[in-house]
Amino acid sequence: MADEEEAKIESRLEGKDIYSPPEGFKEQANVNDPEIYEYAEENYEEFWADKAERLDWYEKWDEVLKWDPPHAEWFVNGKLNASYNCIDRHVKNGKGDKTAIIWEGEPVDETKEYTFSELQDEVSKFANALKEMGVEKGDIVTFYLPMIPELAIGLLACARIGAPHSVVFGGFSPEALKERINDAESEVLVTADGYYRRGGTIKMWENAEKALKNTPSIDNVVLVDRMERDIEINEERDSYYHELVKDQPAECEPEKMDAEDMLFLMYTSGTTGKPKGVVHTTGGYLTGVSATHNWVFDIKDDDIYWCTADIGWITGHSYIVYGPLANGCTTLMYEGSPDYPEKDRFWEIVEDYEVTKFYTAPTAIRLFMKWGEQYPNEHDLSSLKVLGSVGEPINPKAWKWYHEVIGGGDCPIVDTWWQTETGMMLITPLPGITDLKPGSATKPFPGLRADVFDSQGDSVDTNEGGYLVIKRPWPSMLRTLYQEPERYVETYWSEYENDIYFAGDGARKDEDGYFWVVGRLDDVLNVAGHRLSTMEMESALVDHPAVAEAAVVGKPDELKGQVPVGYVILESGNEPSDELAQELRAHVGEIIGPIGKPAAIRFSDDLPKTRSGKIMRRILKKLEKGESAGDTSTLRNPDIVKELKDKVQ
Ligand code: PRX
Repeated sequence: MADEEEAKIESRLEGKDIYSPPEGFKEQANVNDPEIYEYAEENYEEFWADKAERLDWYEKWDEVLKWDPPHAEWFVNGKLNASYNCIDRHVKNGKGDKTAIIWEGEPVDETKEYTFSELQDEVSKFANALKEMGVEKGDIVTFYLPMIPELAIGLLACARIGAPHSVVFGGFSPEALKERINDAESEVLVTADGYYRRGGTIKMWENAEKALKNTPSIDNVVLVDRMERDIEINEERDSYYHELVKDQPAECEPEKMDAEDMLFLMYTSGTTGKPKGVVHTTGGYLTGVSATHNWVFDIKDDDIYWCTADIGWITGHSYIVYGPLANGCTTLMYEGSPDYPEKDRFWEIVEDYEVTKFYTAPTAIRLFMKWGEQYPNEHDLSSLKVLGSVGEPINPKAWKWYHEVIGGGDCPIVDTWWQTETGMMLITPLPGITDLKPGSATKPFPGLRADVFDSQGDSVDTNEGGYLVIKRPWPSMLRTLYQEPERYVETYWSEYENDIYFAGDGARKDEDGYFWVVGRLDDVLNVAGHRLSTMEMESALVDHPAVAEAAVVGKPDELKGQVPVGYVILESGNEPSDELAQELRAHVGEIIGPIGKPAAIRFSDDLPKTRSGKIMRRILKKLEKGESAGDTSTLRNPDIVKELKDKVQ
């Protein structure tokens, strides 16, 4: 039997395992009546209007949804401020002394906490400093920061004055940072001198400086001296964060923003080399992330909520900063790695702070599994009530381990499917209602319509694989791609009718209507939950003088889900060698960042190509999976497949 068939049967058998919400949990859940699905399906706009009412608005909207496919406006003409909603209104409601952010540095015992009142002061001061620098409503501020409180404060400061932020993940390279600053034409960059990682120091400033050599729009750099390193700065351009905010007033009137004003820009990898600037707006985004956070994590006033993502990715934006803070929830941020000083660091944090809701990625869970249960078992994890998973499919074995070893067998697991573009979770359990099946993200959030289509746009049969689509707009959907409106339409809304969102993922729906997401069908890789474009890696490879042609595909990996593998044809005069392979890997790492480094380089004289010369990456993917290449008769050079197969084995 082919592996694929076996896997299918295994996952169907797994599908028979059902975990119902624990009785005690169900009763106390924020939402526990299954009729909510029917209600939201039939009263979609009322449902979302009701969720928007959870926020404070300066002016109410005239219309909940204006849908001119594929362009949506939500809460039309409504006015609000995201920073106000995440901070000030809680202070006004008497929660000023409640802890808003708990920050834990990587060095043990380095912690900081901010109450909502303190956060209000800090955010206002930084907002005033940005204003003084000349940042105005609509100006895009770029952040390149580690997981330190100034990152959350910075985002909220921008939101306060109506300046959209663009956060570039701290692990990205100077090249990637430069490209994103230039695309957004940012005048201000907020960065840091460095940060701790596994006990060592990452010199962030040196990376930022390299990028800054070619970013003509930047007038000001704000530098957080996280490490108090002795570095040379450009006095005219650069100022230290602490000096800038020191004498600023702790009040800053929030801007009244339109619901459809851009809240932030987030670059993400697509199927071409150029990253896409995903645009999220204010009213719909905040409505969507706060509502989903509240229901999916069953948020209570005394929760200590911890999402282990980095704020440099969408998960951190939606579910470390905006969702939790809009809900007045205490959100925990951790700077460092899970194995410093020991492999029990996460569980030590859970125990110390009595974390109640915990959100992480399958790649991390698989790593914990590999390290062994002795690490979590050393700690009291009984405070945990809901466990979340995001970023890639979670295999049933990891799901069950998470449930048993971390959750003690009685915490619902919420496996949440969503994307940078969707802004909020779209396919997810509701822990007080949904019967869970390990490995399935279960069902669309109330009111949403998801389906699995074949290439013709028809729904596929039960348990048949196909393309995941969303058939209704949702409030926190991306509105466009920054400065590329046509690419927005083409990428997401052109595969089928223009009101069908094409997610780029493969999935199947089982006999109970549960969705089983398989992963990307396009040239996007998911490496340890990080989204990377194979095209970006290919451009990085061919950028090296020894490389004539390159193709990058994903290879399944037990821990990381997928790892990139580069197939390379060398320019004549170059010989394959281990040294050259190392050099090419390092070269890609330098251009994209360490996470983009191919796990292996396979040199070859040729690559499988169609008669028109297109590289058949599909065949390379199959080889990496150890599967048969299938029909190669349409290739110009079918013989190369056998040669490559020998190299892979
Ligand atoms: O392939 C899906 C996978 O991650 C992709 C989105 O990546 P990104 O925009 O970086 O956002 C990640 C965090 C939301 C999706 O197209 N993915 C995300 N969550 C899941 C998932 N695949 C399966 N199950 C999930 N729960």
